[in-house]
Amino acid sequence: MDRAKENMTSEDYSAWFRGKDLTTDWTSRYYPIWASLLGSRRNEPLTVLEIGSWEGRSAIFFLRYLPNCRLTCIDTFAGSAEHLTVEKWRVAVPHIEARFDANVAEFGDRVVKLKSRSMQALARLLLQGAQFDLVYIDGSHRSADVQSDATLSWPMVKNHGIVVFDDYDWSLMGTEMDRPKLGVDTFLRVRAGEYRELHRGYQLIVEKI
Ligand SMILES: C[S@@+](CC[C@H](N)C(=O)[O-])C[C@H]1O[C@@H](n2cnc3c(N)ncnc32)[C@H](O)[C@@H]1O
Repeated sequence: MDRAKENMTSEDYSAWFRGKDLTTDWTSRYYPIWASLLGSRRNEPLTVLEIGSWEGRSAIFFLRYLPNCRLTCIDTFAGSAEHLTVEKWRVAVPHIEARFDANVAEFGDRVVKLKSRSMQALARLLLQGAQFDLVYIDGSHRSADVQSDATLSWPMVKNHGIVVFDDYDWSLMGTEMDRPKLGVDTFLRVRAGEYRELHRGYQLIVEKI
């Protein structure tokens, strides 16, 4: 059963992004799916971890949709291999950190920015005993990196916490080593019995059980 599709809403979120400095939109088509899965917990003080923030579009969604959440954002702010393949993305890379900073400034200390490779930042969070209700994995799309992001995040996911894998069905890069799917599938095989699948489409979403 695909719980996400069953509960889909059609709220208009566009006002949240008016006046923001954003040059890409890889994200808004998923808001209805995320809303359907998070709606019942909307006002709780959830802890959210985002790996891969770019200019902050997905971060703004979480911060607005979950008004009492705290969001930890990990990004090198150096872009990824695929951002060199499209001119519009390539020229944006040197400015993504400044845009991110400006776009989330209004949320103050609800946002913690960790400028780092995810492996190092996740290791530090693990040592600090961090725990999250929601993890959004959208950093490096190399399968080994996605697997590593999931593996390091999983012990920090609370019971009934949700993990969203972006770009599960992504085909931009040529080999499966350069795409998330192999890493996600391998991680899920290793963790069989520890999760329930909530949604499988272009994104893959699971709940820890
Ligand atoms: C697809 S973008 C994120 C998009 C963003 N979630 C949104 O909705 O607009 C991927 C981001 O991951 C970052 N990134 C790539 N490899 C990384 C790594 N190993 N550690 C941390 N961040 C990384 C890039 O700098 C880039 O900003």
